[in-house]
Amino acid sequence: MSDFPNMRTQHWNYDYHDDDHRHAAESAEHVITHPNPSAVSLSIRASALVFSDPKSQNLLSLIEKIAASNATALIIGETGTGKELIARHIHALSNRKSGPFQAINCGAFSETLVESELFGYERGAFTGATQSKIGWFETANGGTLFLDEIGDLPQSTQVKLLRVLQEREVVRVGARKATPIDVRLIAATNVNLEEAVRAGRFREDLYYRIKVIPIDLPPLRERRGDILPLVEHFLTVYKNRLQTSTPQLAPETIRLMLEYPWPGNIRELENVIHRALLVATSSTLQPRDLNLPAIYSLQSKEVASAETPEITVSGSSQSATTSRLEHVLNDLFENTPPNLYELINAITVQKAYQFCNHNQVHTAKLLGISRNILRARLKELNLIA
Ligand SMILES: Nc1ncnc2c1ncn2[C@@H]1O[C@H](COP(=O)(O)OP(=O)(O)O)[C@@H](O)[C@H]1O
Ligand SMILES: [Mg+2]
Repeated sequence: MSDFPNMRTQHWNYDYHDDDHRHAAESAEHVITHPNPSAVSLSIRASALVFSDPKSQNLLSLIEKIAASNATALIIGETGTGKELIARHIHALSNRKSGPFQAINCGAFSETLVESELFGYERGAFTGATQSKIGWFETANGGTLFLDEIGDLPQSTQVKLLRVLQEREVVRVGARKATPIDVRLIAATNVNLEEAVRAGRFREDLYYRIKVIPIDLPPLRERRGDILPLVEHFLTVYKNRLQTSTPQLAPETIRLMLEYPWPGNIRELENVIHRALLVATSSTLQPRDLNLPAIYSLQSKEVASAETPEITVSGSSQSATTSRLEHVLNDLFENTPPNLYELINAITVQKAYQFCNHNQVHTAKLLGISRNILRARLKELNLIA
């Protein structure tokens, strides 16, 4: 109903989010993001996950509902939307939380390797198998196995995976007998598996077996209420890590971040904030510090310089913003939506209220109106009861 997120950030006191370690591991091999979580997270620190947008809040309650069960979940979402983080969260909320969490990227292995990685192998199973080795299913015993990019599994492995899920036991490559396993599977995909099924690339029986609980993770551009809370979250993370002072955001920077479509989703946003803190020359982050693709930063520059060159020379961002506003208004005048005045007023109040994290005192101050007038207006707009 309302587009306005409640700007809460959820805090959990467990640590599965050791970024330093994860990023190192990811760039090292793109395969296992947490080979041994208990060994790497010597320090327990709180991690804050953002679920502010109404869509994310719904998602969170779904996760909380299904965490305790052992049912297989299939997380569907574009890259960078937080699929792995959701999987870790499900694990952390489950009865298996003290067991291992193993994350494997199915696309990272060659067809011949993936089977022995997943199911393990016996000594002598193939040339070079001088030792027997347990696979990821056995490593994850008592815990959760996260299979990322499950659509990349070769057909022959899909058959074996289905069998493992049905029988709850694995047969190592080259072994005669099966080993029982107790593993919860969470799979993830950024491709439309139904389409892969139709095209004959993914087994239908396996598809139904893994999508017992489908979890749709919308792209960031479809849950814009998460954008500013995430920005705040990553500003804090990277400010602490880089030991910089508390950064401020110029209003144009905020606008740009709210409008940008974030094709790389949360991961892109995180990288943008990290880089901005590294390159920014002042403690107020400007749109150029975000270094977004030229087309977006151009838009703001063009407007500022083409419309009012003298203002750009004077370097006054206040005047540049005013001129951009005029530009936008001219566009609106040409397209004349109905009730233009009411529309602009409503957007101004809504955006200011959102900008101030739903703090009425701050919003009234920002807009230069009294709190009573603001409250009346917020009621009219159904933003407060
Ligand atoms: N809800 C969230 N709150 C805070 N950080 C998040 C959230 N979702 C994702 N992230 C962060 O965004 C980055 C990408 O998430 P990840 O789970 O690796 O995405 P995916 O597996 O879909 O590619 C990670 O650094 C992760 O910690
Ligand atoms: Mg991932």
